[in-house]
Amino acid sequence: MKILLLGAEGQLGFELRGSLGCIGSLTALGRAECDLARPESLEQVVRAYAPDLLVNAAAYTDVDGSEAVGSPAHAINGAAVAELGRLANAERFGLIHVSTDFVFDGEARAPYREDDATAPVNAYGVSKLAGEQALKALEAPAIVLRTAWVYGLRRKSFVATIVRLASERSELSVVDDQFGNPTFCRDLSNGIAAIATILRPDPFGAATAHRGVYHLAGSGVASRYELAKLTVERHPRRETLKVRTLSAIPSDAMPLPARRPLRTPLDCSKVQRTFGVALPDWRDALERALASL
Ligand SMILES: NC(=O)c1ccc[n+]([C@@H]2O[C@H](COP(=O)([O-])OP(=O)(O)OC[C@H]3O[C@@H](n4cnc5c(N)ncnc54)[C@H](OP(=O)(O)O)[C@@H]3O)[C@@H](O)[C@H]2O)c1
Repeated sequence: MKILLLGAEGQLGFELRGSLGCIGSLTALGRAECDLARPESLEQVVRAYAPDLLVNAAAYTDVDGSEAVGSPAHAINGAAVAELGRLANAERFGLIHVSTDFVFDGEARAPYREDDATAPVNAYGVSKLAGEQALKALEAPAIVLRTAWVYGLRRKSFVATIVRLASERSELSVVDDQFGNPTFCRDLSNGIAAIATILRPDPFGAATAHRGVYHLAGSGVASRYELAKLTVERHPRRETLKVRTLSAIPSDAMPLPARRPLRTPLDCSKVQRTFGVALPDWRDALERALASL
């Protein structure tokens, strides 16, 4: 199986280079080789590599930056994804695309299921939803994986930021009214590779048969504060950290350009039923992630 990976320099893309490299002949492209801000350039790239499966881990992920006038969020997360869907149909390859819990407004009481109403509260969520909707309208052979709160320690992420700030400051304030599924990028990458392995005998046919949205995120729910607290507590060299006080504050006390949805836990039972894939508990994942520090 020839696999083309886009977004290979991102935190998820970096992990996917390893996990997808084990199951097929992988070409991994970063922004320099394949720029999603220029959707019209994608056809040439896709034709040059003629993949059986394309995995899109590229995205404009700056949630606050997406609010700015002239932000490339819509081109990269919306228009480019539509073009990938069109090409998947025309060139007959399967597509695995990654989306987000931020397509929801965060007001639900129960974990979100795939067919629950979407209502993004910020421009990033709107742009990611546009990508999803384009793939649906095109009936593209696309497995859309909505994930949440993705972190690694290589690049900027919530957990990486807490690790850095905890070594610089004695007091930290973290919001305690936002809840979601922390997802270690290595576990997510392994889950995506497991799905790709199931598609392998016939990526276009299997992605067509199973096309649609699936939720795939770490098991268990945490608040940002709980995630930060465990990050500090389980840091392998905790005694070297400067932080002494971790305060829980409401989101209102930390205004940012983009509003965040408050509760976006995802019900991941459909991906387990369909592909037999479930990601480990977030606490276990965090310990494994921190062990690599
Ligand atoms: N991080 C989260 O909390 C989170 C939560 C839910 C869903 N997701 C989704 O998960 C996927 C992976 O995100 P991630 O966490 O790995 O984020 P990331 O580390 O920011 O990776 C995104 C990658 O896309 C690249 N990119 C940006 N603009 C591009 C362009 N015009 N053309 C080609 N590549 C471009 C980035 O390159 P540069 O480094 O050069 O900018 C980066 O390498 C995305 O679809 C994201 O929407 C993430």
